[in-house]
Amino acid sequence: MADPQEVLSRRVQSALGAAFGPEYADTDPVVRPSQFADYQANAALALAKRLGRKPREVSAAIMEHLDVADVCRDIEVSGPGFINLTLREDWIADQTRQLLDDPRVGVPVQERLNIPLDYSAPNVAKEMHVGHLRTTVVGDSLARTLEFLGHHVIRQNHIGDWGTPFGMLIEHLLEAGEDSEEADLLTTDPNAFYQAARTKFDSSGEGPDDFAARARRRVVALQGGDEETLRLWRELVGLSRIYFNKVYAKLGVTLTDDHLAGESSYNAMLADVCDELESKGIAEISDGALCVFLEGFTGREDKPVPLIVRKSDGGYGYATTDLATVRYRVDDLKADRILYVVGAPQAMHFKMVWATARKAGWLPDRVETTHVQIGNVLGPDGKILRTRSGAPVRLVQLLDEAIERAAAVVAENRPDLDAESQAEIARKVGIGAVKYADLSVSHDTEYVFDFDRMLALTGNTGPYIQYAQARIRSIFRKGGVDPRAVDGAITVSEGSERDLALKLLGFGAVVEQVGDHLQPHRLSTYLFELAQTLTAFYEHCPVLTASTDAERESRLALVSVALRVLVQGLDLLGVESPEHM
Ligand code: ARG
Repeated sequence: MADPQEVLSRRVQSALGAAFGPEYADTDPVVRPSQFADYQANAALALAKRLGRKPREVSAAIMEHLDVADVCRDIEVSGPGFINLTLREDWIADQTRQLLDDPRVGVPVQERLNIPLDYSAPNVAKEMHVGHLRTTVVGDSLARTLEFLGHHVIRQNHIGDWGTPFGMLIEHLLEAGEDSEEADLLTTDPNAFYQAARTKFDSSGEGPDDFAARARRRVVALQGGDEETLRLWRELVGLSRIYFNKVYAKLGVTLTDDHLAGESSYNAMLADVCDELESKGIAEISDGALCVFLEGFTGREDKPVPLIVRKSDGGYGYATTDLATVRYRVDDLKADRILYVVGAPQAMHFKMVWATARKAGWLPDRVETTHVQIGNVLGPDGKILRTRSGAPVRLVQLLDEAIERAAAVVAENRPDLDAESQAEIARKVGIGAVKYADLSVSHDTEYVFDFDRMLALTGNTGPYIQYAQARIRSIFRKGGVDPRAVDGAITVSEGSERDLALKLLGFGAVVEQVGDHLQPHRLSTYLFELAQTLTAFYEHCPVLTASTDAERESRLALVSVALRVLVQGLDLLGVESPEHM
């Protein structure tokens, strides 16, 4: 089975080679879906210039060598030199039938690459906010997709578990007591714990025994490796981890403790990173700090912006850690491609870190690094989503509210189901809706968080796609047929059968595109269009009450493939598929 666009592209390409010589055999054939035929090949227009011939002559030459008789029933040149290509129904049917037998529903296995994938990365003892939710959801979808495409994805959860705030956090933990209710907050509402520590620090006196001074001494003790301080730090990180895992479990993301590779895990490498940069002449001391000045990174008045790798007090920062991270991922994890799913405001940081790493020889040219930039999630006022009091929105609460709202809809639509099934659907729909909202718009754009819109049963929403697959399951239940046991011949005679089959044939290519371009929203768009195509299909093509047995078998086969594509597609997005809706 194959994506028609790919098949036609290859055929047109070999025609180009045959017509104009081997140097034209890898020219883009510009095959695109078209409103005048299934596809249109527009290569002639660009080639005409290169060849110094008229476009229509060029397309005539292509036509002479184009061998698509087994795939197309109509081929004609139109306009200035477009080649209109209309597929044969028996070819479409045959390809779709192959999808039915393919457990991967048309998704190819790519050459295996080692891909460290940095995503989620919340900060210890601070609430994960909706921004982290989005990097988590987008990152997880990329992890699932790249894995399904055959790659070795190495999840790296670069949590913020080191740095100066730990001084005040440890002191606060000590004052409150390790077994106190306050300490418990770390597993339920870490932001409240953080805020309490912050308030103490900000309102502290400046005496040697006051909170601020103790907190500062703690930072020094922590960096110096003091045993008791390290024990308290581990306690803090451990409690935070319980909280992260709660959120991950609720979300159904694939991250576990095995994927933790927080900032602290690079501590031992930082001095070495600095030494090497200095000895290679890449970093220099400026105002007491060790800095890298890179060409092309300038700020106001063209002043060079430094990447500070060691502060004047000897401390290391976020950039130093990320440099060590690059080195580790290339040397130890044997990375072929490194991905960072992180908020858009950090774009400059990564550019500077990678440029430095390339200069230092830690990041060879063959290893591509990509920042998958995550846009902000906004509230109805168009500003970053906050609660009415201005505090960041609590994730667990947000997810629970989504489930509650979904539960109300399920109770209304499916009073026939028992409470347990209703709750199960509500969970899948509520969480699915929130995740899908993150995945249905391009990852770098901002969007407004709106429960009503994301939970709607119409439009490009999670519930709409989930409903499309539940509806197919209900057809099979009604017909008393097991969707996995369908084995009929497929014919496509009706226009909407043809549309559906063609859409299904495009699944594999879309999944590949998501892996190449790192854009899960392309898959969402595809699934949305597939769901719409299905709606049109039901309007014209009754399945269980088809007029002949052969037609019924064929349509059951078509919707069985559609069911598998929808379920597989949703799974790659990290969205569950309820049996009923
Ligand atoms: N903890 C950081 C934050 O909350 C994100 C870390 C992203 N990963 C990295 N390698 N810098 O903004």
